[in-house]
Amino acid sequence: MRQALVVGNWKMNGSLAANSQLLESFLERWQGEHQVEVAVCPPAIYLAQVKQLAGDGLQIGAQDVSQAESGAYTGEVSASMVADLDCRYAIVGHSERREYHSETNELVAEKFAAAQQAGLVPILCVGETLEQRNASETLDVIAEQLKAVIDRAGLQAMTDAVVAYEPVWAIGTGLTATPEQAQEVHGFIREQLGDTGDAVRILYGGSVKPANAGELFAKPDIDGALVGGASLASEDFYQICLAAE
Ligand code: 13P
Repeated sequence: MRQALVVGNWKMNGSLAANSQLLESFLERWQGEHQVEVAVCPPAIYLAQVKQLAGDGLQIGAQDVSQAESGAYTGEVSASMVADLDCRYAIVGHSERREYHSETNELVAEKFAAAQQAGLVPILCVGETLEQRNASETLDVIAEQLKAVIDRAGLQAMTDAVVAYEPVWAIGTGLTATPEQAQEVHGFIREQLGDTGDAVRILYGGSVKPANAGELFAKPDIDGALVGGASLASEDFYQICLAAE
């Protein structure tokens, strides 16, 4: 059985005051025992603050890590630094990094390997653009994105990873993939993972809201969500977490 996982990707949002208010308000709601695992990924500069505020109630992850271990990489944050703060996850290959920072499949694979080497669980993001979907290239694009990582890290490495399917056209647009569209890709991703596939949690991301989370989570290969905008509102994020229970 795969444990459901809901991850909030705060992107470049927050402040000391806002983070503390958001977490307090979420943790007030999210008390006691839960079956679903919840994690938040704040901007790197707030990882230590959020780790301290979250206590045992939440896992923490970084939104990105460097592919390099240490040294002359001004502005970068290494996976071992994130692990040093007792964080559990690192998102790698988010479409915003692929698009605005020209991250290639190969670089994403390096970051995936660096995260695992430091003892973090990578959350590998894959997804197609609208143009690619309209040209019926969705599955080819996803297969290529996965292959680069499998070639670099090996299939077995996927058992210690999470995959997030985030169609680029659904991110921050209010357009969500239908549960059927998402299930088709999630099933395909699991197939690509071969024997390891059954153990790997595959999250859906792209305009997940309280109103659509339940029907997405009802699909057999959707094991949770990577949530952007709605993770910044404690009640919405709470409702999405509850829907995953
Ligand atoms: P939204 O939920 O804001 O569409 O963002 C999704 C996302 O990119 C999470 O990583």
